[in-house]
Amino acid sequence: MKLEQKLFTGKTLAILSGGGDTPAINHSIESIRNRASLLGYKVFGIRNGWKGLLGDGDIVDLTNQPYDGWYGGTALRSSRTNPFPSKKNPESRVPQVLANLNRYKIDVLVTIGGDDTNGAAKRLFETEGIPVIGFPKTIDNDLRTRTLHKYKGEKIESVLCPGFPSAAKAIAEFTAKIRTTAESHSRIIVLEVMGRDAGWLTGSAVFGGGCLGLVPEYEITKERKEVFFERVKETYLSSPKKYLVIPVAEGVRWYDEKTGKVDVVYASPEVDEYGHPRFGGISGIIASELSAALGIEARAQISGYYPRSGHCRKYDRRLTSALADKVVDLLLREDYGQMPVLKNIVPFMELEEFNTTSIDMGAIGNKCLPEEYYNIQNFSFTETYLNFLSNILEKPENEDFRYDFPVVIPE
Ligand code: F6P
Repeated sequence: MKLEQKLFTGKTLAILSGGGDTPAINHSIESIRNRASLLGYKVFGIRNGWKGLLGDGDIVDLTNQPYDGWYGGTALRSSRTNPFPSKKNPESRVPQVLANLNRYKIDVLVTIGGDDTNGAAKRLFETEGIPVIGFPKTIDNDLRTRTLHKYKGEKIESVLCPGFPSAAKAIAEFTAKIRTTAESHSRIIVLEVMGRDAGWLTGSAVFGGGCLGLVPEYEITKERKEVFFERVKETYLSSPKKYLVIPVAEGVRWYDEKTGKVDVVYASPEVDEYGHPRFGGISGIIASELSAALGIEARAQISGYYPRSGHCRKYDRRLTSALADKVVDLLLREDYGQMPVLKNIVPFMELEEFNTTSIDMGAIGNKCLPEEYYNIQNFSFTETYLNFLSNILEKPENEDFRYDFPVVIPE
């Protein structure tokens, strides 16, 4: 039978990416574009997130164009523009967005983003009836996807967002690398990791040989700080090679002796249009306090944009493809206001469409690290967290210098 016309011929689907970039956005765009094209859609790319729908619009045609999905970042560029009124920008830009959706004849909008971008998309769907599909994205992994993690008879509400697997792999590799310099100098390196208010990404340093860890979910009060110092000392002294890499989340809330308050360290007090300040610098404070308290040399290292940069890793390529398959299902059923997600935490081989589902965008929001993943008493990530990560990263980066030399004693 010859198909006379594809189902959605004459219709246009547009894709935008908003918020912090990840290595998996281009692969998401390419995967969605390819599938939507097969259904007959013309596919547009909106540049710079919601900003591309303001003014005269900034739109490119992705239909039948070559695309490098493995290349990191987002070729459509990104911004933290909020179409809805915010403290920073009290004027609503929704009328401009609606005018451009109409002017460019966009029938369906796919928004690749975290809670902010998809939260705005959800509001447009609810208040203006715009057909939207949200596509998850964040290295912070804190966008509630309602993905189940089954381990030792327990069912834990976990999260798995495209971008996190590549970022986690990068942090594991980064940690494995800086271990060698920590080892050469018998130092403690305090490794600061992005993730805003969640410690999902910080934990991946353990797969590169990181020990202990501090996350934003549990604040470090005056009392907890003393216990933490003790714990670091014990761990350092009992480590066979006398060095440590301790991952700490950029959003750790830490007791400040001078102010007597527990607070995060801000890189800038400026907030974006979604009300987020920028964090940065906690590792320097922790390293100098550790040195002073323990008499062990400690240094700070900020991993910064490293996990957000570079090419899309294999787990992310497969994950974005499986979620894009689910987008096809949503498009065919014209089921908008939905976000495709992974049903269960599964290893690479099981990343298939049958393992995905979709959730109502009204149910999205933030999800911090589950309590099953972090041991507050020990300041460490649990076996359950490591099992979660082993599905995504497979094996730890645990190369070690293998030889020990006999000590020479003068005769
Ligand atoms: O949300 C992603 C993220 O990388 C956070 O981990 C980090 O706090 C923030 O973005 C940094 O934002 P910017 O790109 O504005 O420096």
